[in-house]
Amino acid sequence: MNNKKINFFDLSRQWSETKNNLTEKINSVLDSQSYIGGKFIETFETNFSKYLNVKHAISCNSGTDALLMALDVIGMKKNEIVLTTPFSFIASSSEILALEGHAVFIDIDDKTYNIDTNKIEIWINNECELKNNNLIHKNTGYRVAGILPVDIFGQCADYKKIKEIAQKYNLWIIQDSCQAVGSLDEDGIMAGNHGDITCFSFYPTKNLGAFGDGGACTTNDPILAEKLLRYRNHGRKNHYNYIEHGINSRLDGIQAAILDEKLKLLNSLNDRRCEIASIYSKELANINFIQLPKEINGKHVYHQYCIKLNNINREELMSSLSSMGVGTNIYYPKGLNLIDFLNKEPRLKTECPISDNLTQTILALPIWPELTNEEVLYICEKFKEVINNKIDLKIESVSQLNI
Ligand SMILES: Cc1ncc(COP(=O)(O)O)c(C=O)c1O
Repeated sequence: MNNKKINFFDLSRQWSETKNNLTEKINSVLDSQSYIGGKFIETFETNFSKYLNVKHAISCNSGTDALLMALDVIGMKKNEIVLTTPFSFIASSSEILALEGHAVFIDIDDKTYNIDTNKIEIWINNECELKNNNLIHKNTGYRVAGILPVDIFGQCADYKKIKEIAQKYNLWIIQDSCQAVGSLDEDGIMAGNHGDITCFSFYPTKNLGAFGDGGACTTNDPILAEKLLRYRNHGRKNHYNYIEHGINSRLDGIQAAILDEKLKLLNSLNDRRCEIASIYSKELANINFIQLPKEINGKHVYHQYCIKLNNINREELMSSLSSMGVGTNIYYPKGLNLIDFLNKEPRLKTECPISDNLTQTILALPIWPELTNEEVLYICEKFKEVINNKIDLKIESVSQLNI
């Protein structure tokens, strides 16, 4: 095959396919001038909650704001501890800090790359005691308030176990499903229903992406839903009646109209991501030096298709693929446990060797839904070509050594 140019991510084909429909939708917002609040927001929130089979969906300005809103509304207080994953985008921990809490990083499972529930229990057993039904960290005296798992790359964390732990120790759960809209747990329950509150991002490259920033919280609890609605709108109960602190985090009408239209395509876009993932997994199955993604907790929606490289120089591989026209990326080059400002309290520092290793060995291949099978096969072919050359080189250098 001749060299092709395949970007790591590309929205242009999706835009050409949806342009007419979406332009019409955008025009209808402009015609009605429902820029903030109003019917487009209401319609999207209703349809999004129906899609997820959850009682309440509250849209907002971004996934980051959804996390901030969730943490504040659930009642997280200064110096409280939240157990979370080091292997994630910064927002899943930075908002804990924004409310003056402490993120304690629990290492990840080496197959799903989600938080390792056994390690949550080990940390609790070693570090904490129950006092009046509150879980207290012995060394600092800080209360452990909740667990914030992230459904990394599009696969649900192990919520069966997480819920068991949360119940046992009286902890809340905030599910960061910013990367996993449309995924299901092993019992077929949609992401959006596993936490007291779930957070979603509609960043343009997400599986459900807006044409700018956007996000949402979902919950089955009517009291939390009401608080979230107030919180995103300056703590406003009704007209000029402000009853508590809030922020301005409203989704725009234009974004809501776009998201509502794209929601209709979400299942087919997610299915296409799964098809591409299965081509990769079939074509790359026999390479010894890589670990392919594993589908363990229900239906994965492949926000990213990431492979773990064993004993392969990642930068060389990326630059060889790039010279053949294939874009790749690294999620994430640094664990959150290694970011100084997130780890200010030395008594709460933890070891996360699985995550540390993964940050040095993970590689993401293109998985946007509009890729053709031919392009995916091209990526596989070039990947194998580069890896085989590297193996030959390795064998050569070993035999030279033997001589
Ligand atoms: C796991 C995770 N959490 C939170 C966020 C934040 O979402 P946003 O970019 O919409 O603020 C993202 C987005 O990249 C994410 O991937």
